Formats: sequence, C-alpha cells, structure tokens
Amino acid sequence: MRIDIITVLPKLLNGPLNESILQRGQKKGILEIKVHDLREYGLGKHKQVDDEPYGGKAGMVMMIEPIANCIRTLQTEREYDEVIYMTPDGKNFNQRTANTLSLKQNIIILCGHYKGIDERIRDMFITKEISIGDYVLTGGELAAAVVVDAICRLIPGVISDESSALSDSFQDGLLAPPIYTRPASFEGHEVPEIMRSGNFKAIEEWEHEQALKRTEERRPDLLSDR
Ligand code: 6GU
Repeated sequence: MRIDIITVLPKLLNGPLNESILQRGQKKGILEIKVHDLREYGLGKHKQVDDEPYGGKAGMVMMIEPIANCIRTLQTEREYDEVIYMTPDGKNFNQRTANTLSLKQNIIILCGHYKGIDERIRDMFITKEISIGDYVLTGGELAAAVVVDAICRLIPGVISDESSALSDSFQDGLLAPPIYTRPASFEGHEVPEIMRSGNFKAIEEWEHEQALKRTEERRPDLLSDR
C-alpha cells in the first residue's frame, strides 16, 4: 500500500510515521508512506499556500492552486483509490473505516490547516472526509498520523504476529479482555486461575465472557451497533 500525505507541516508527521511498526512495514517494502510539503507547490517567490477568505472573516484559507498542483502531480504517477481530507467536520473515524481503507492500494491524505481549505478543492478532488473525534486540533497532521497508524497495522506482514491485529478491541465489535504476564502473583494480586490452567478452550470462553462484560460496562453503545 502507498500513502501520500500532503501537509504544510511535514515535520509533524516524519516522527510518528518513521518509528517502530510503521518503519518496519516500510523497510519490508509492504508499505510506502510519502510526506509532501505543500509549500513546494506554493505560488510565487514566497511559495504562498494560504490567503485571506472572501467575505472578510478572520483567519487564512488554504489556496486551491498549490493543492490542485500537488494532487495532480501525484495522479500522473499512479491511480488513487481515495483522496481523503482530514477535517473536524468529516465523518468520525472508526475500526470499520480503518479496515476498509487497509484494503486500498494508493491513497492521498490532505491535512487541513488554518481555517480550512477552499471549498472547491473538496468539490473537485476529495472523495472522503475524516475526523478523528469531536474536538478541534490545530491541524489535520496528528489526525492523519492516527488514521495512517490504524490502517497500516492491519496490512498483512506489517505486524509480526498477524493474528494479533484480529484480536484487538473493536475488531469483533467488543473491547479486548484483560491480559496477564508473569509473575503469577504480585503483592497479593493473582493472575486468574483459569489463565494458568493450560485449558485453551476454557480460557477462550472465559476471555469472551470478560470481553462481553467489559463492553457492557464501558461501551454498551458498541453492543447495540453489532
Ligand atoms: Cl481531522 N482535524 C482537525 N483540525 N481537528 C480534528 C480532526 C481533524 N479530527 C478531530 N479534530
């Protein structure tokens, strides 16, 4: 899978996308993540990327030409399945969307900044608008990092233990059950007897019960969505 991210703040993304699991995926050649500095497509001597809004309001708007030039340049190189715009007024991101996007070949992610982008960019280029929750960030970069992380870890081979992504919270519509490692006893707090029993069928049943109980207690809304 290839992901092209367009941003005015490439430095904000280079850290999160080049560590640990995402780095491994890229080294293995399963994943290709490219961050594009929108400023390189800016207009004139000052490489301008934003301008005052029509209508006389405060704040700046991301201009249409630099974004159009950047997207079109990428589109001459390959076909894109989605051109995603990160914005607080987009559709709320969830595991289902992550699963769907992880099956795509090539996607572009445009990070919003300032007051937002010229509406015509949305009309002309954007196929999907995503928000990561009901709060406002200073820009779409951190949200894009969240989305890229959630998508990439689902691509076979990116996580070494493939079954592990499938047993995550949310993957079956339930929160994950409790997990334990050694020691079996710590300051009077014991690992549940059943987890040490070696009876894998019984363990699986217990884990499912625990997952259900935890979901009922913490996120009953997930149960009614199933
Ligand atoms: Cl995608 N962008 C911004 N600026 N704020 C957000 C967001 C995105 N998702 C939640 N809050």
